[in-house]
Amino acid sequence: MTPYQAHLTQLQSRFEQAMVHHQLDAILIYSGHHGYAFLDDNAMPFRVNPYFKIWLPLINQERSFVLVRPNTRPKLFLYQKADYWHAEPSLPNGEWQDAFEFEIIDDPAKAVKTCRDNYNNTALIGDTLDQSDMFQDWPEASLNPSGLLAQLDYQRAYKTEYELENLRAANRLAAKAHKAAKHAFFNGASELEIHHAYLASLACREIDLPYNNIIALNEHAAVLHYDDYAPTPPAQSKSFLIDAGSSVNGYHADISRTYVGPDVKDGAEFAALFQAYKREYFALLDEIQIGHSYLDFHDSAHRRLSGLLSEFELVNCSAEQAYALGYSRTFFPCGVGHYIGAQVHDVGGHLANELGELLPQDPRYPFLRLLRPMERNTVFTVEPGIYFIPQLLAEQSQNPDFNWSRIHQLKAFGGFRLEDSMAITELGVENLSAPHLDH
Ligand code: GLY
Ligand code: MN
Ligand code: MN
Repeated sequence: MTPYQAHLTQLQSRFEQAMVHHQLDAILIYSGHHGYAFLDDNAMPFRVNPYFKIWLPLINQERSFVLVRPNTRPKLFLYQKADYWHAEPSLPNGEWQDAFEFEIIDDPAKAVKTCRDNYNNTALIGDTLDQSDMFQDWPEASLNPSGLLAQLDYQRAYKTEYELENLRAANRLAAKAHKAAKHAFFNGASELEIHHAYLASLACREIDLPYNNIIALNEHAAVLHYDDYAPTPPAQSKSFLIDAGSSVNGYHADISRTYVGPDVKDGAEFAALFQAYKREYFALLDEIQIGHSYLDFHDSAHRRLSGLLSEFELVNCSAEQAYALGYSRTFFPCGVGHYIGAQVHDVGGHLANELGELLPQDPRYPFLRLLRPMERNTVFTVEPGIYFIPQLLAEQSQNPDFNWSRIHQLKAFGGFRLEDSMAITELGVENLSAPHLDH
């Protein structure tokens, strides 16, 4: 059995369990459709339903469906309409073609009606927004039922070998583009030019990226999701934070790196802090093991960052005090990582079980997206950072525990982070990102 066939077998089994549990005859997955700009006929980019693309590597097929039934091959209703305005999305060759029963449709509403007529209890998973006509006969309770989604979301944390292969391939591609971006940075390129170097290396369009590239020079690195791409380079490029991914068959990479510019005033101080951070980063990666709580892992990142704040005199207190007083949260306000897979921020990180019960969130860490313990066959990112964020520093402006002269010295660099995707497989802990790219 190939990895893809084994993947389908696994999915079929998960969906069959869910159908039994939720007393369903079938599950119909709608790929989705693009939206339009307000008062315009200008189409917005299409993003496929992740539940569609985990079944088969079709990421551009709108208005199509996968029908899952017990003990039966899954069926693809593939939308193809004779239309001289638009190009038809090309279908990739592959094993998926042998795995599905096929039907070409030119009217998605008909496919929906056929399923409604043939299967009494069918749940629909998909975006029904602006499609009320198509789904009007569908009982409200069967549209994206939350209990069903919780069960399936919970299981999506456990990646199959096919999914791991795609994630590895996505990381290989992203690493290649990261190298092109690094090269552009050290040649003095602007943010926009670096972004273009990244796209050119992948020979892709922006819409093909899993998320907007973060290409941040200098203080822009302090904007956590910066995607503004200044077209001209700053007077001096002191630092470069890149957070950029790639996708293979709809599975994503999400990699961050930081570089210090050459011959920069205070560059040695920033580089020394970053070097010490790397030591803590690798020590944190070494903590990864089955059974370890990801919340404790996040907390350990805060302890380690607190140590750096004290060691490099960004605060005037001990590491323990900095941790206890929450000062590391001023410099690192986000979560240390998240599940990754068919979605960059993959689903299920807050679920305690298949019933949809939620794990308790630590009030200190409201942005942590993953609370489940580390388990075999899960893949998550690790991305602690230190950022000089004006808004958060302003909240501490009267606090004498903060070493303001030191902070002012370094804040023009914006900040830094590294980010790798880590898999826990049969063979142990595997860094999916690092084999292809230095830290
Ligand atoms: N690139 C988005 C993230 O790191 O979560
Ligand atoms: Mn991430
Ligand atoms: Mn990222």
